[in-house]
Amino acid sequence: MASNPSDQNLNDDRLPVVVLISGSGSNLQALIDTQEDIGIRIAAVISNKPSVLGLKRAMEARIPAEALNHKDYETREQFDQALMELINSYNPKLVVLAGFMRILTPEFTRFYEQRLLNIHPSLLPKYKGLHTHRRALEAGDAEHGVTVHFVTSELDGGPPVIQARIPVRSGDTEETLQKRVLVQEHIIYPVAVGWFASGRLCLKENKALLDNVPLPAQGFQHTVLSTPE
Ligand code: GAR
Repeated sequence: MASNPSDQNLNDDRLPVVVLISGSGSNLQALIDTQEDIGIRIAAVISNKPSVLGLKRAMEARIPAEALNHKDYETREQFDQALMELINSYNPKLVVLAGFMRILTPEFTRFYEQRLLNIHPSLLPKYKGLHTHRRALEAGDAEHGVTVHFVTSELDGGPPVIQARIPVRSGDTEETLQKRVLVQEHIIYPVAVGWFASGRLCLKENKALLDNVPLPAQGFQHTVLSTPE
């Protein structure tokens, strides 16, 4: 039996993916749990914060887990440069941002253009940036949700791939909304990553294409069957 996880994969035709995280890594877990089914191999998990739960999840799955603390770098450019070097040492074909809470430099987004996905907890283009659940509640929105999108240099502004919408209920709080949205995140992120891994999804001329057909402006609309209380 191979002792080094990378040794196990010499004859592995699954798509090598590096996942970037900053926190609990529940989306990472959804990808770990589905990686065989969706045709990916998570080559490494990198966190800009040491000691987060997501790194433990990676280690438990015997995936190389790296902490690269942004506080050790004077500038965003220097951090992103070091991050790119670390990512590239794993030769990924796709980089997946899963709760990675850092603004990326144009050098970074340009380098991984067409192979960089993010998940954002709002119905983009609504609520780019932080506190999306609070902002949806404050605006009195009837629905809220989550978007997977290709990353470009515009913050949370790259072409959407897939969205899941949930109704906002009277009595919802930031916490209840966040929980119900997260359930959908764990469903749609593996779907989007699986499409990419199978070659069905790509970015061309700033448009997300599925099976060579441009996706709607807000991405494929995932049907939510029911949402838990
Ligand atoms: C998720 O809700 C994800 O959509 C959000 O961070 C959370 C990470 O949770 N990402 C962003 O806000 C990016 N702008 P997780 O660590 O449990 O996957």
